[in-house]
Amino acid sequence: MEIQGKKFLVTGGASGMGRNFTLNFAKLGGDVAFCDLNDEAIKEVEAEGADLPGRVVGFSANVADEESVVALMKNVRETLGGLDGLVNNAGIFRDGLLVKKDRETGALKTLSLSKWQSVIDVDLTGPFLCSREFAAGCIENGHGGVIVNISSASRHGNPGQSNYSAAKAGLVADTKLWATELARYDIRTGAIAPGFVDTPILQGMRPDVLERMLKSVPLRRAADPDEIFLAVKFIVECGFFTGRCIDVDGGQVL
Ligand SMILES: NC(=O)c1ccc[n+]([C@@H]2O[C@H](COP(=O)([O-])OP(=O)(O)OC[C@H]3O[C@@H](n4cnc5c(N)ncnc54)[C@H](O)[C@@H]3O)[C@@H](O)[C@H]2O)c1
Repeated sequence: MEIQGKKFLVTGGASGMGRNFTLNFAKLGGDVAFCDLNDEAIKEVEAEGADLPGRVVGFSANVADEESVVALMKNVRETLGGLDGLVNNAGIFRDGLLVKKDRETGALKTLSLSKWQSVIDVDLTGPFLCSREFAAGCIENGHGGVIVNISSASRHGNPGQSNYSAAKAGLVADTKLWATELARYDIRTGAIAPGFVDTPILQGMRPDVLERMLKSVPLRRAADPDEIFLAVKFIVECGFFTGRCIDVDGGQVL
């Protein structure tokens, strides 16, 4: 699918990679809707995208909320006049060990259900709801489409991330099965599993902690969001790609 002249929705588009994907689609002549929770940041990204070849329109929506997603998809299709591609990018993490024993007191601290659930809700239920509504609309309107799921290198199981690793691994499993279920409707699905990417999450870390983390990456650095967009572009453009995950992780092994 060519990006020029096509219509895309990027979730979590007001920050980091989502912001980058939104602006990059518009630079290449795609019309882009993006959604986020952060109204102020939505306005900023809309302003940044105002003079690009493609349209950039922001929506306030919560991907973890069914009603919000159903309304979002309807509004986006009406505003853009259709929808050809979806990037499930919105994501959060709430890290913690499953069980941690305090070295001095021996007290046990466990990963709370609310931390578990909040990550599953945004990182797994969110893409499920958005993909379901996206695919239903494409099928109803009689045209194909493409779904890009942003997973993570943590999908392999990263200590301290029971919730996040489970969500990101589940998303790759769904990428594969949605590809099979939806191929007959000419809808493709692909996933990307980035390693460390230079977004506000990393920018907020202590420099010494960040330096230690990046030592585990053979390329010894974080990715630029533009490098992850290259994989998004490939999945959108390559008509023979579906049901697979592209690892863009600088060679990091978890
Ligand atoms: N930054 C990294 O190193 C890295 C690595 C691998 C994977 N990822 C994944 O890439 C994606 C983007 O990460 P980022 O680093 O750009 O994060 P970010 O925090 O900069 O941006 C995420 C955006 O999603 C929005 N969001 C959060 N919950 C939402 C919800 N319920 N509904 C709508 N929007 C919501 C946030 O407001 C934010 O604007 C995430 O799925 C993340 O898990 C990031």
